[in-house]
Amino acid sequence: MRLNDITEAIKEKPIIGWTIFAVVMVGVFLLGLLAATITERRAEIASIYNNKKVDIQGLEPRNRIWGDNYPREYETWLKTANMDFKSKHLGNTFDDVLAERPDMVVLWAGYAFSRDYSAPRGHMYTIEDMRNTLRTGSPGVDGQKDLQPGTCWTCKSPDVPRMMQEIGVSEYYKSPWSALGDQIVNPIGCADCHDPQTMNLTITRPALVEAFDRQGKDISKATLQEMRSLVCAQCHVEYYFKGEGKYLTFPWDDGSTLEDMEVYYENVGFTDWTHALSKAPMLKAQHPDYELFKMGTHGQRGLSCADCHMPYMAEGGIKYSDHQLMSPLKDVSRTCQTCHRDSEEALKNYVYEHQDKILELRDRVEPELAKAHIMAKAAWDNGATEEEMADVLKMLRSAQWAWDFSVASHGSSFHAPVETQRVMAKSLDKSMQAQLALQRILFNHGQTEEFVMPDISTKAKAQAYIGLDMEKLNKDKEQFREVVIPQWIQSAQANNRL
Ligand code: HEC
Ligand code: HEC
Ligand code: HEC
Ligand code: HEC
Repeated sequence: MRLNDITEAIKEKPIIGWTIFAVVMVGVFLLGLLAATITERRAEIASIYNNKKVDIQGLEPRNRIWGDNYPREYETWLKTANMDFKSKHLGNTFDDVLAERPDMVVLWAGYAFSRDYSAPRGHMYTIEDMRNTLRTGSPGVDGQKDLQPGTCWTCKSPDVPRMMQEIGVSEYYKSPWSALGDQIVNPIGCADCHDPQTMNLTITRPALVEAFDRQGKDISKATLQEMRSLVCAQCHVEYYFKGEGKYLTFPWDDGSTLEDMEVYYENVGFTDWTHALSKAPMLKAQHPDYELFKMGTHGQRGLSCADCHMPYMAEGGIKYSDHQLMSPLKDVSRTCQTCHRDSEEALKNYVYEHQDKILELRDRVEPELAKAHIMAKAAWDNGATEEEMADVLKMLRSAQWAWDFSVASHGSSFHAPVETQRVMAKSLDKSMQAQLALQRILFNHGQTEEFVMPDISTKAKAQAYIGLDMEKLNKDKEQFREVVIPQWIQSAQANNRL
C-alpha cells in the first residue's frame, strides 16, 4: 500500500484515521513513561554517586569513610565479621585444621605452617588472623627476629597499596613484617577493589598486572565481567616470594595449570623450604582459586566470582551487590537459583557430592604422603646416599605440590571438580611410588621388617614428633599479643590510620 492509497482509505473511512491517531498517541505515552523510568534510574544512580557525603581522595584505606557514601555496600561488607555459617565442609567459622588432620603437621615439618593452620574466615579477620598466627612468630619478644617479610601483608589490607605508594613497591616487600605492623591495620576493603573517584573496579596489586604483562596481556583491557573475577585474583591465586627482595610474583609465565607452574618453579630453581624429615626441596602451594576456577564448568562459561559470591540485592528498587563475601550456599535462592531451576536441596547435594568424593581421595593422600616423608627420614638414618635418594625427593616434592594445590584452594571441589580430582589422584600415585622406592632403599640398607610408623595421631603428638616446642611458641605469642600489638594499634590510632 502506497501513501496515496492510505490517504484515499482515510478519506473513505475516517475511523481508520482515528485508529492510527490513537495507536500513535498510546505509543507516545508509553515512550514517555519509559523515558521517565530511565531518568528516574539515572537519578537514582546519580544519587548514589553524586550525593557523596565525603570526597574520598587517593588511597583511602579506612573502610568506615567509604561507608558514609555507600551505606548498603558498607553494611553488607561489615557482615564479613559474622561467624555463623557452616555448610557440610566449609563456612565462616574458625577451625583448627591441624587438630582435625594431624598428618599435615608432618607434611609441613620445618615450615611455619606446621605450627598453626586454621580454616579461613571472613575478610574482616585478615589483620587479626595475621597478627595472631604462630606462623608470623613473635618478633620483638626476647629480641626475636622476624620470620616473615612485609610481602606477607600483601593480601590482607587496603593499607598495602597505600604503603607501596609511600615507600615504593620493592621497599615495601622487603621490609621486615613487623616494621609494617602499625601501618597495615585495616582489613580488606573498598580501596582494594575500587577507584574512589569513579567507583570502577580496579587492580591495586602490582603482581597481577606484572603477571599479565609478562604474558603479553594488557589487564587494563579487561571487560567488566572479567574484572568481577580479577579483583579477587589479586589475592586468591598461587604466588611466591621471588629472590632476596621477596618480590611477590605469580608463576604464570608458562601457563597456570599444576604442571605449568611446577615447570616454572623448576626453571627458576625455586624451593620454599627443605623438609625437616625427608630433606626434600619443597613447594608450598598458596590458594590457586582463580586458576582452578577457570578450568571448571562455570569458569569456562564466563561466570565471574562475583556472580556467586556477591549476588545482587534489592532495596527500595535499588539494586546493589552483596559485599558479604562468603559461601554461596548460605542463601541458594540469591546465588545458584538466579540461574538454575533445581531445588535448593539438589543444588547443595551437587556441591556436597563433589566435595565428599574429593575428600575421600584427600584422606587417602595425607597419611600416605606423611608416611613417605617419615620413611625417607628412616632411609637417611640408615645411611641412604644423596644419589639413592635423588629421585625419591623429586617425587615427594611433586606429590606434595599436587596435594597442596588442590586442598589450599578451598572451593576447588566445586569450582573445578574434575581437575581437582585428577590433581589429587596424581598426588596419591606419586606418594605411593615414593613409598615403593623408599621400601627398596631401606631394604638395601638392611631394613627388612615392615616399616613401623610413629604415633602422630594428634596435633600435639605430631608436633612433638617433628621437634616443635609449642609451649615456648605459644608463650612468646601471648607476650607478643599483650605487648607488641597494643603498641601497633595505639600508634595507628594516634596517626589517624584506623
Ligand atoms: C586483598 C586480598 C583479597 C582480595 C582482593 C579478596 N580476598 Fe577473599 N580472602 C582473602 C584472605 C586473606 C582470606 C582469609 C581471611 C582470614 O581467614 O583471615 C579470604 C577469605 C575469603 C573467603 C572465605 C571467607 C569465609 O567466610 O568463608 C571467601 C569466600 C573469599 N575470600 C572470596 C573472595 C572473593 C569472591 C573475592 C573477589 C570478589 C575476594 N575474596 C577478594 C584475601 C582477599
Ligand atoms: C573484593 C573486592 C571488593 C571489595 C573489597 C569491595 N567491593 Fe564494592 N564491588 C565489588 C564488585 C565485584 C562489584 C560489582 C561491580 C559490577 O558488577 O559493576 C562492586 C560494586 C560496588 C558498588 C556499585 C553498586 C553495587 O553495589 O553493585 C559500590 C557502590 C561498591 N561496590 C562499594 C563498595 C564499598 C563501600 C566497599 C567497602 C566497604 C566495597 N565496595 C568493597 C568488589 C569489591
Ligand atoms: C558458580 C558459583 C561460584 C562461582 C562463580 C565461584 N564460586 Fe567460589 N565457591 C562456590 C561454592 C558453591 C563454594 C563451596 C561453598 C561451601 O562448601 O560452603 C565455593 C567456595 C569458595 C571458597 C572457599 C570458601 C570457604 O568458606 O572456605 C573461596 C575462597 C572461593 N569460593 C573463592 C572463589 C573465587 C576467587 C572465585 C572466582 C575466581 C569463585 N569462588 C567463583 C561457588 C562459586
Ligand atoms: C550466573 C549464572 C549461574 C549461577 C549463579 C550458577 N550457575 Fe551453575 N551453571 C551455569 C551455567 C551457564 C552452566 C553451564 C550450563 C551448560 O553448559 O548447559 C552451569 C552448570 C551447572 C551445573 C552442571 C555441571 C556441569 O559440570 O556441567 C551444575 C550442577 C551447576 N551449574 C550448579 C550450580 C550451583 C550449585 C550454583 C550455586 C553455588 C550455581 N550453579 C550457580 C550458570 C550459573
